[in-house]
Amino acid sequence: MSLTDSIPNNVDLGSDRKLLRALEKWQPNFLDWWRDMGPEGFQEDDIWLRTAISVDAGGWAHYDYVRMPDYRWGIFLTPREGERTIGFGDNPNQKVWDEVPGEFRGLLRRIIVTQADTEPASVEQQRLLGKTAPSLYDLRNLFQVNVEEGRHLWAMVHLLHQYFGRDGREEAEALLQRRSGDVDRPRILNTFNERTDEWLSFFMFAMFTDRDGKYQLSALSESGFDPLARATQFMLTEEAFHLFVGETGVNRIVQRAAEATLADPNNDARAQGAIDLPTIQKWINFWFSSAVELFGGEISSNAADYFAIGLKGRHHEHKKYERHDGLNEVYAMPTIEQGAVRSTEIPLRNAMNEVLRDDYVTDCERACARWNKTIAKAGLTGFELKIPSRRFNRAMGMYADFCFSPEGELISDSEFEKNRAVWLPTQEDRDYVRSVMQPVYEPGKMAPWIAPPAKGVKGTPVDYEYVKFKG
Ligand SMILES: [Fe+2]
Ligand SMILES: [Fe+2]
Repeated sequence: MSLTDSIPNNVDLGSDRKLLRALEKWQPNFLDWWRDMGPEGFQEDDIWLRTAISVDAGGWAHYDYVRMPDYRWGIFLTPREGERTIGFGDNPNQKVWDEVPGEFRGLLRRIIVTQADTEPASVEQQRLLGKTAPSLYDLRNLFQVNVEEGRHLWAMVHLLHQYFGRDGREEAEALLQRRSGDVDRPRILNTFNERTDEWLSFFMFAMFTDRDGKYQLSALSESGFDPLARATQFMLTEEAFHLFVGETGVNRIVQRAAEATLADPNNDARAQGAIDLPTIQKWINFWFSSAVELFGGEISSNAADYFAIGLKGRHHEHKKYERHDGLNEVYAMPTIEQGAVRSTEIPLRNAMNEVLRDDYVTDCERACARWNKTIAKAGLTGFELKIPSRRFNRAMGMYADFCFSPEGELISDSEFEKNRAVWLPTQEDRDYVRSVMQPVYEPGKMAPWIAPPAKGVKGTPVDYEYVKFKG
């Protein structure tokens, strides 16, 4: 482990002068990007952040005050445990690749660039949120997520530089040039061009969109390309915190919504300055339906290829499955035949995107059950939040040509349009949510639309001075 190098790392960068020089050349461009596109208005402040300093389970993170531009973005791979084999697809038991196999070079580069592009994209989407933070605790968590997405970009750029030569260096430059939402140079995936300019959307993003990231990283952590597997394994440890921010953030807003509904003589949470539960449900519908797109087509020959070759496995391929070839097995896929939803058997390999999406949906439903417990605990009855059907409100894949209710029933276009304002955020809802986004920067205080967290960060009290303003 070297923390004294210009770039902290556990990949022995010092012994590869050429790679080190290439990364040192990229570093100032990264910092320029961070200053331009990172959190606006807080770059000089001291933020209480954790920095990755090792990959040991026990002590990888160090907490201290740091100015964000001074954050030590580093390169960490989970160490190898003995000989790894590919473990799934057409060539099980074949030794993993330490170098990029020539025939899969293009595919692998595309997978890495697509993953990499999401990391700076989310920082760009969130760059103005600090100005309306509901508390110092949340402000600090936002910045923690932002610097770690920056580190994930480093992790992917390291792979591009080390294994893809000149093409890789060009891709690494391009990652700093695309911009979320830009008409001419947008980010690659559409969700990452969506605006995330209020905190309800931020928490939904961290809950639903980042969670897609978890499952993609998990599938890549099974990869036969060993450096990618080890990079994504360590990214997952950081990602867990982002998901925590999303899930608990929504939970705290739900808690406040339930309390405010009960406290108001007309059961009007908005009259109490909170965000009402039906509005929260609309944001869930919007963000969930946007995030499920990221898993790709339901029936996909690309997904079958990635699995066959050994590039991308299933979530917990080893823990969860007995057989790893995906052959002579089928997946019961709901398809649309003659105006009705029917079950069709699809060869399992072609359904790998759907298999991953299943794990994701189950995870989202688990979180939603927790939110409903929070509503019940507050004493409110008669309202439950729901994760909509994955068929609802889709723009891509085989359900995109039809309309479905949040319950997943096939409905007419006009039926959908009639209910649009009930199911999805309206302009009026967006205006209301934006109107309650007033900053609260006093330690321990919370905006009226969110409950305090159960506890502070890493043993600190909730009223800890997580951000020290210099201005
Ligand atoms: Fe990330
Ligand atoms: Fe993340």
